[in-house]
Amino acid sequence: MFLRSKNKMKLCHGLIIFVLTSFTYVLADIPCAERQIPKQSVVCVCNTTYCDDITREIPAPKSFVTYTSSKDGLRFKKAGGTWIESKSKSCCSTTLEVFPHIKYQRVEGFGGAVTDSAGINWKALPATLQDYLIRSYFSENGLEYNMLRVPIGGSDFSTHPYAYNELPVNDTQLTNYTLAPEDNLYKIPMIKSIMKAATAPVHIVATTWSPPLWMKTHQTYGGFSRLKRQYYQAYADYHLKFLEKYNQSGIPVWGITTTNEPINGVLSIAPFNSLGWDVQEMGEWIMNNLGPTIRNSAFKDLKILAGDDQRATIPYWFNVMFARYPKALDFVDGIAVHFYTDNFIPAAVFDAVTATHPEKIILATEACQGSFPWQKEKVLLGSWDRAKSYIEDILEDLNYNLVGWIDWNLCLNMRGGPNWVENFVDSPIIVDEEKQQFLKQPMFYAMGHFSKFIPRGSIRIKVVENKHFFVSRVRHVAFITPKNTIVAVLYNDGQSRTIHLKNSGKQATLNLPAHSVTTVEFPCE
Ligand SMILES: *[C@@H]1O[C@H](CO)[C@@H](O)[C@H](O)[C@H]1NC(C)=O
Ligand SMILES: *[C@@H]1O[C@H](CO)[C@@H](O)[C@H](O)[C@H]1NC(C)=O
Ligand SMILES: *[C@@H]1O[C@H](CO)[C@@H](O)[C@H](O)[C@H]1NC(C)=O
Ligand SMILES: *[C@@H]1O[C@H](CO)[C@@H](O)[C@H](O)[C@H]1NC(C)=O
Repeated sequence: MFLRSKNKMKLCHGLIIFVLTSFTYVLADIPCAERQIPKQSVVCVCNTTYCDDITREIPAPKSFVTYTSSKDGLRFKKAGGTWIESKSKSCCSTTLEVFPHIKYQRVEGFGGAVTDSAGINWKALPATLQDYLIRSYFSENGLEYNMLRVPIGGSDFSTHPYAYNELPVNDTQLTNYTLAPEDNLYKIPMIKSIMKAATAPVHIVATTWSPPLWMKTHQTYGGFSRLKRQYYQAYADYHLKFLEKYNQSGIPVWGITTTNEPINGVLSIAPFNSLGWDVQEMGEWIMNNLGPTIRNSAFKDLKILAGDDQRATIPYWFNVMFARYPKALDFVDGIAVHFYTDNFIPAAVFDAVTATHPEKIILATEACQGSFPWQKEKVLLGSWDRAKSYIEDILEDLNYNLVGWIDWNLCLNMRGGPNWVENFVDSPIIVDEEKQQFLKQPMFYAMGHFSKFIPRGSIRIKVVENKHFFVSRVRHVAFITPKNTIVAVLYNDGQSRTIHLKNSGKQATLNLPAHSVTTVEFPCE
């Protein structure tokens, strides 16, 4: 039992009610060293001698544990209580009832990206802080992330554009394929350190932004370009070589995507590393080159995820491409999707995939705040609104059967870089190299409310909300975990309120502070 509670017994309408008056936790957490940001929420400061952490309590039989973070500054605040016999519905309170026997998708995981920039910022910290940063995200006392995305070669979050085997040109055999200094100095050491700290095998998704220029129709990293026909096989081999190189470095890759945001290179909307594809070219490349190359290699079990672009493009790839090239679909394990149009495109686009191909997975592979031109502050310290945008997006995606959610850069500097085209953005961890500290943004805790408590193998279950028409919704999602517990994540965007959680005739009373996210966990009895 993790909590020693003083229970008072009261007899009330013939029901025995346990009223929890106080409890203490076996596992004490190191609290957030708060810095209040004017007009925003708080950031938690980690320095060479101090960093907050969070341990998961094992919920005792008939009890529940809650963790709450809020705009007012709560960060994983623990509380808990016991289940009581369910009373008849009271007039005004909201109830959320879970149905553990009605099951949906299986979770693959949550994570962030080891870009060159993340690695550079991480490496700029003293060793103890490097360790704190990795532990904050991956360890048992951290968010327990279990996924990573890693660029194959450079992305805009690099100090300069590059790809592997740029020389000699026209080298279809890729005779000079060597990893970059960025791999050896930053990415590989960071990933190794992550693999050591993580509580579960880290599933890495690798993605190419741009191949070497000689493979492209236009000799630029960004802007408009296509893959030259004569290099379709070389580009497939380019991926296989990366798997081999990382394998030789001791890093297993779990999946690849079929090129980052291919529409960027069609519409010429990105000044950074890109490669344009249309459905015909992509369908043929997967079917004739990438698919057979991977499936006939030592890496035949690798996941291949198509798309890797905004929600708006899902019907284009999934419905149009695979309708025309059904054989390409045989090589593909699912589809990857990015975050940036989610305010404009309803998540219902995912239904097309789930309805026709329930065996294919959908994974969110990139998200960040601050990327739009109208967002003047690229890094907005302490922003609760940005945390809220993550929480709402993850809740929505999970309710539409996505199997995981991978954030963009694990950490950035105070400007939101480095980035070779000055496409600066925000990150859940901002590194202040000068002060030898890093700042955990509200977005960091937003991620943790999911990643820490919904381990790989969790299965989403049905939740039904019963509420009076004049109260606002509590956004929610629930899972049954491999630890045989039920975990629900709830977002209350209104004033502070009390709701009831119901499960097979029992109920738990939860207090949800104003503008807060709560994760609740209880044994599945
Ligand atoms: C680190 O942070 C802790 C907690 O805020 C503080 O007490 C300590 O003085 C700081 N140490 C340094 C070296 O800044
Ligand atoms: C191989 O690539 C390196 C850069 O990684 C370059 O300096 C060298 O000239 C290349 N070798 C040939 C034969 O092109
Ligand atoms: C590389 O191939 C292109 C045609 O795709 C050709 O124009 C160019 O001269 C070739 N370069 C070398 C060094 O062979
Ligand atoms: C590298 O590949 C070999 C053969 O496929 C495999 O046995 C080994 O586990 C791989 N190592 C890593 C680190 O993925």
